[in-house]
Amino acid sequence: MENTPIGVFDSGVGGLSVLRALRHELPGESFIYFADQAHVPYGPRPLEQVCAFSEAITRYLLGQGAGLIVVACNTASAAALHRLREIFPQTPFVGMEPAVKPAAEHTRSGRVGVLATPATFQGALYASVVERFANGVQLFQNTCPGLVAQIEAGEIESPRTREILDHALGPMLAEGIDTVVLGCTHYPFVIPLIEQITGPGVRVIDPAPAIARQARRLLEGKRDLEADAPGEAAKRTQMITTGAAERLAEVAKKLTGIEANVKGAKWGVDLACQSPSV
Ligand code: DGL
Repeated sequence: MENTPIGVFDSGVGGLSVLRALRHELPGESFIYFADQAHVPYGPRPLEQVCAFSEAITRYLLGQGAGLIVVACNTASAAALHRLREIFPQTPFVGMEPAVKPAAEHTRSGRVGVLATPATFQGALYASVVERFANGVQLFQNTCPGLVAQIEAGEIESPRTREILDHALGPMLAEGIDTVVLGCTHYPFVIPLIEQITGPGVRVIDPAPAIARQARRLLEGKRDLEADAPGEAAKRTQMITTGAAERLAEVAKKLTGIEANVKGAKWGVDLACQSPSV
């Protein structure tokens, strides 16, 4: 996998919060970021359908030469990570799971809020994370309806976005949470708003830096990670969307400052999906 690009995918712009951390951790690497904006949001969809999308996107990224795949989406990880590892046994994958473990280790009140999509909460991955790591800590969950759409639109500080977050966080804060887990990769873009609502006594956990370190661990020993100067990654990020290319370029720049070449891909033309329900 020497010099192969790292493939990163999400339903939309959420995985850019992970891409940002990856570029910081691995400045000499090149990246192909895939946003399935024809299908965003994934959260309310059946897990089997998200699994079929994830398989097709992985095939596409491997076809583009990717040597490592980062599933920068909690929903796709919940739906497909296990299956992807089975179908593509030669490919290393990094996936997401809600950061219940560090939250349970650090909470003092023993009460933790978890924000994620409905599909993530339904998946076996979340149940297993809770079983293994919650350790008696009380979890308060919310699916933040409408929040992914706001972030897709680049609306990270509008009154509507604030209203959605007030609604999600208010009841948890009333229960005495001191930690919030961001179990959807879209949500780190509204951390400033979340912190305004929670105040300074609540810790907000963005898993992106830990995911980037995990990607580095997988690559270490397999390629020379220090070969290129920091900043080089900026020139080496290609973005692909199944939605509108100019729009992704615009929102990506607004959310992360990343300016990348964006091209379009079409379902049924560039990618084939096995799901009968698409
Ligand atoms: N960013 C995604 C996640 O981490 C998906 C959000 C969505 O499409 O509903 O779950």
